[in-house]
Amino acid sequence: MNLIKTILTGCLSILWLANASAQKTETSLAPLPPMGWNTWNTFQTKINEDMLKEMVDRYVSSGMREAGYRYFVLDDGWMSMDRDAAGSLVADPVKFPHGMKAFADYVHAKGLKFGIYNCAGSKTCAGYPGTRGHEYEDARLYASWGVDFLKYDWCNTDSLNAPEAYKTMSAALRATGRPIVFSICEWGDHAPWLWAGGVGELYRTTGDISASFNVRKPIGNWTPQSVTSILDLQEAIRKYNGPNHWNDPDMLEVGNGMSTVEDRSHFSLWCMLAAPLAAGNDLRKMSPQTVEILTNGEMIAIDQDARGIAAFKMVLPDSVELWVKPLKNNELALCFFNRTGSTRNISLNWKDLIITDKFSGTDIHFGKEIFSMRDMWARKAAGDTKSKMEKQLASHDVLVLRLKPAVATN
Ligand code: GLA
Repeated sequence: MNLIKTILTGCLSILWLANASAQKTETSLAPLPPMGWNTWNTFQTKINEDMLKEMVDRYVSSGMREAGYRYFVLDDGWMSMDRDAAGSLVADPVKFPHGMKAFADYVHAKGLKFGIYNCAGSKTCAGYPGTRGHEYEDARLYASWGVDFLKYDWCNTDSLNAPEAYKTMSAALRATGRPIVFSICEWGDHAPWLWAGGVGELYRTTGDISASFNVRKPIGNWTPQSVTSILDLQEAIRKYNGPNHWNDPDMLEVGNGMSTVEDRSHFSLWCMLAAPLAAGNDLRKMSPQTVEILTNGEMIAIDQDARGIAAFKMVLPDSVELWVKPLKNNELALCFFNRTGSTRNISLNWKDLIITDKFSGTDIHFGKEIFSMRDMWARKAAGDTKSKMEKQLASHDVLVLRLKPAVATN
């Protein structure tokens, strides 16, 4: 009898463990916003194995891996223009003479995770073979290469139903048994924040970003987004953001031509949004300022806060915006942002400030509670909320403060 009981208990434990690990694959691949690097913003389809290996090496030597970046993602343009006779995708033999498995091995050997790109349509946005009708075989191929992340685009999809197309690919990835983060990229056209949770771990919320801070500059017959135009679309959907289902306001343009101040603000704002952080610059040619921005651990900790809450906006006098991100342990990140074209004053009598947010259950009366502050870019203590704060904020600049409840002294 005891033996039967022991065997039964053993079987139940195994079932429980199997179930727990299945659930893990399904729901916890990205408890924090994924961080990585992607080829597209700088190189588009002009990529090749030798150049990318240098990039992998720089990823590590620049301190990005140490700072928390993990994924190394090849965007569009990695494959040949045609599938092979058996219907399989083929890595472009000129760009990747040693094949994709060898390249993935190189990435893994450096302690990074490997990501790749395809599209739900018949062709990718750059005209390479898309996955439509090949979902399961493509997923198996990626798994055999050791792919850890798939960005899945939305060009040439005709009348496809977006939620269904993404669910099909999601199921195909899961059927491989390999944990592969699924990055949905339909540009926010079908309100993915309403259905993408459980389908993918992150979903683009807008069209493509460009290295422009607040002007949307047309390129031919198409007008990409700017940093601020994307920012302004995020607040309304902040309540959908959270662990394993991240609103993705697109990749970073840090180091791609904006001013250092603008790069710093762009990075800070994306961290305030709890956004996935995909650098998109040439890692071989980073200025010290670019490295400093991308690897600011204190700023990254705000992005990676376990609560995963995206910031909301308050407007202060003098047109300065205050973005507020509730953090764990009753801490708070405050990002003062001057999007105007001239310097603005911040004159803040803390005790008059009340910050409330139903969504996160935040209700702070600074007249009743004191916080100590730390400046995330000066990287030093910045006093507390007992005294008035007077500051000047340059055009397009931010001041990011991390507030901690002060320990009562009496
Ligand atoms: C779309 C995506 C971009 C990039 C390109 C590749 O425009 O939104 O991020 O992947 O396709 O062709």
